[in-house]
Amino acid sequence: MTAEYQVHGAVAVITLNNPPVNGMGLVTRTAAVKGIQQALADDAVKAIVITGAGKAFSGGADIKEFNTPAALAEPSLHTFIATAESSTKPVVAAIHTVCMGGGLELSLGCHYRVALPGAQIALPEVKLGLLPGAGGTQRLPRVLGLEPALNMIVSGNPVPSEKLPALFDQIFAADADIVQSAVAFAEKIADVRPLPKVRDRKVDYPNHEAFLQFSRNTVKAMSGPFPAPLECVETVAASVTMKFEDGMKFERERFLHLIQTTESKSLRHAFFSERTASKVPDVPADTPVRSIKSAAVIGAGMMGGGIAMNFLNAGIPVKLLETRQEALDKGIATIRKNYESSLKKGKLTQEKLDQRMGLLTSTLSYDDIGQADIVVEAVFEEMGVKEAVFRKLDEVMKPGAILATNTSTLDVDKIAAFTKRPQDVIGTHFFSPANVMKLLEIVRGKQTGKDVLATALALSKKLKKTGVVSGVCDGFIGNRMIEQYSRQAGFLLEEGALPEQVDKAAEKFGFAMGPFRMGDLAGNDIGWAIRKRRYVEKPEITYSKTADLLCEMGRYGQKTGGGWYDYKAGDRKAYPNEQVNAMIVQHSADLGITRRKISDEEIVERLVYSLVNEGALILEEGIALRASDIDMVYLTGYGFPLYRGGPMFYADTVGLPNVLAAINKYAKGHQGQAWKPAPLLLKLAAEGKLLNS
Ligand code: 3HC
Repeated sequence: MTAEYQVHGAVAVITLNNPPVNGMGLVTRTAAVKGIQQALADDAVKAIVITGAGKAFSGGADIKEFNTPAALAEPSLHTFIATAESSTKPVVAAIHTVCMGGGLELSLGCHYRVALPGAQIALPEVKLGLLPGAGGTQRLPRVLGLEPALNMIVSGNPVPSEKLPALFDQIFAADADIVQSAVAFAEKIADVRPLPKVRDRKVDYPNHEAFLQFSRNTVKAMSGPFPAPLECVETVAASVTMKFEDGMKFERERFLHLIQTTESKSLRHAFFSERTASKVPDVPADTPVRSIKSAAVIGAGMMGGGIAMNFLNAGIPVKLLETRQEALDKGIATIRKNYESSLKKGKLTQEKLDQRMGLLTSTLSYDDIGQADIVVEAVFEEMGVKEAVFRKLDEVMKPGAILATNTSTLDVDKIAAFTKRPQDVIGTHFFSPANVMKLLEIVRGKQTGKDVLATALALSKKLKKTGVVSGVCDGFIGNRMIEQYSRQAGFLLEEGALPEQVDKAAEKFGFAMGPFRMGDLAGNDIGWAIRKRRYVEKPEITYSKTADLLCEMGRYGQKTGGGWYDYKAGDRKAYPNEQVNAMIVQHSADLGITRRKISDEEIVERLVYSLVNEGALILEEGIALRASDIDMVYLTGYGFPLYRGGPMFYADTVGLPNVLAAINKYAKGHQGQAWKPAPLLLKLAAEGKLLNS
């Protein structure tokens, strides 16, 4: 079903019906246009209402159709809107719940708009690297005025319908029936002529050039590598400076340009990847979930405190457990301090702060946490410590409670085996700072119950996290890949680069932070501890010793006042340190390596392709369900540039044969044994296929 046609007295009602959000794909557009034609041909019909079934008026153009022939096939969205606008009988858009993108553009082409309060109204195309391409940039300024329309189009943010009185001819009561009310409205205006058309209005804005120039400057400064926001300004400017038809042509041309850009393709990839990540093939959407009404967190350190805040923010009471009262007091004080800092920045009200702190209780005794629906441990990353905690949890937790570990590298199956209920054990790997970072790696053990996995996925949404499922392996998806990236960063130092050059090249590529600044922030001692374990367990894996030498100098990072760089109080800038750089140069000499000039291109290729190659192994082993899950991990947890879509998407855009050629080249260089092309990469490249198929 795509669009239903019904007649209520003298009013035809066309209901867009393309679940879940009535995206206007070809089939829907065809049916809706047919509906208008049917209404025009029926003498008994005096007016037409267009509305949407289910939970949306319309979420806009069908994004899944973009870059396929169906997107431009007739009747196009333009034709649909033009058919409504040129109708000789009045057309009323009856808006409720969600009216976005092409949905709002359709309503602007209708003669009248009526709505329920609380409907989310937006032109969010910019968030997909686009601009409104079906008249939104020309019609919205004609209705709202230049400035409010520009703000909505450049931000893409939704505004509730009741806050946009200029957009609507009537806003009904919250409990009104939208169809009945719209039909009653249509009956009232059925004979009014001429039919009002937004295109006939003018955008009046005295001194618009100065305003537009100001907007260009501001938007350019804020949009970074994304071209769409500035294009939005230019097309909105056309609503003032050009005739309607010319403005429409200009908008079309810019839209068709943007839709081909890698930035837009990356943003659309991220949009769908985020939603796909919550789907697990053998865990159907109707899998029952356990109710999570209370939580316990073990460990009140930085990680435990951050995890607790996530639950508090979602309104879930938390009991924080520690072994010592001082640690507990310190942890609670840090949570309060974080909230107070949000209060000072105006991001939180005092009332909300009090509410959240009111949901937090603490204890030194395991006996007090037994009734929690979920317990997340964030204790020291050492199997012996985890064993003690899980044996205790097995004793005290009520039946049916979920036992979650925040381990970032350890074997979740082994941890589960410390209990008599492995089906209730799962990994929930939060990223630091846990109250800020979006990523939640959900680690599915061999025996993790399907309902436990489904509950963790649902919980990630409640906590406003991007939940990505990973199988059990050392480091899971994210840290297993970052290890290869860090190894390459270390080898680059041995061969001739210095931390500053590597970081600058990575940051120019778009990483939020280069590997060495990231090490200084996270603490270089963490990697050191992991490597020490590896030297014993996996001696065949080679690492540059520079990071160990750095730690031996006592330079763990920002927390010790310096690491790869120096830091000054109250200043986040990283200052190169001469002794560190001398240590790096000396180390090359000790290895007998003649240092060479390394290009930024080589740095970026080695960092990024090491992620891609390990990602391909992870995919092949089934640790990640799909390439787009790996992309989500890197976009939301590791500062990979959004406009490049994630490492796997980026590899697809570069072309897998090109990635492979570079890997083969580096396999012949220093520490070349670190480069063994993943069989999946070889296979896909040979078959001309993509990682994200
Ligand atoms: N086209 C196709 N599918 C869409 C869609 C769209 N425009 N918008 C949402 N969906 C799908 C999602 O992929 C998801 O599918 P799934 O269930 O198979 O995973 C489903 O609808 C539900 O989406 P959410 O999980 O996001 O549900 P929410 O209820 O949280 O949010 C929403 C609904 C507010 C509509 C949100 O999905 C959203 O912001 N969508 C994007 C809207 C948008 O960007 N519209 C502009 C499209 S571009 C356009 O119109 C071009 C025109 O100017 C020419």
